[in-house]
Amino acid sequence: MPSAALLEAPEVVSVSKLEARIDFLISEFISSMPKSASLSAKQRRGILSRYTAVLEGNFIYWMTGALLACRSEETREIILHNLHEEVRDAHPDMLRRFALAAKAVPSEADASAVYANLSAVRAFIGRMSPVRIVLMMGYFEKLIQQWMPYLAELADLQGSQEREYTDVHGVCDVEHSQELFRALGAEIALAPDAVDAGVFEGVELLNKLNYNVIRGVA
Ligand SMILES: [Fe+2]
Repeated sequence: MPSAALLEAPEVVSVSKLEARIDFLISEFISSMPKSASLSAKQRRGILSRYTAVLEGNFIYWMTGALLACRSEETREIILHNLHEEVRDAHPDMLRRFALAAKAVPSEADASAVYANLSAVRAFIGRMSPVRIVLMMGYFEKLIQQWMPYLAELADLQGSQEREYTDVHGVCDVEHSQELFRALGAEIALAPDAVDAGVFEGVELLNKLNYNVIRGVA
């Protein structure tokens, strides 16, 4: 009798292998974060500000890049649903309120600290590689649901009670990441050769940017 793995379509096997690597990178990132209580107020503000500098103006743009690059109708629908929520509920404004309440609105120095790595992610998006972009967005959605409690903790230590952004993204991104990994399967089914040595290009660039948000230096 054939094993369960042999009964799976090749794209399903690929997605589960890619997702396992993503899970490893996420747990490595989450466990690398400094304990919030060990940080000074300035360091806590820096993390919140750099996070805001990266996400406020870029998340919808990255997701739009995924929409323009994708080939399958299934992916298109999944991404449109995601973008619809982002715009309808004004997620960038939710993040701005989170930063304002924690007195962590990005300064020129905060934007400069992440500029080089953010530019590298933007250039990657411009290369419009469907499998790589959808994988990067799946990685990000899965990561932020686990990152939210930490950001909420930092905001709390900064004296803020504003939680809408962290509450919404801790919950809705569970579904979003599952949907994006389903989209990834649809994209791989149309281009199996795209699962090559460089498939993690976007994930690695964004991972580097996320460490930059935490550590402050590029
Ligand atoms: Fe969002």
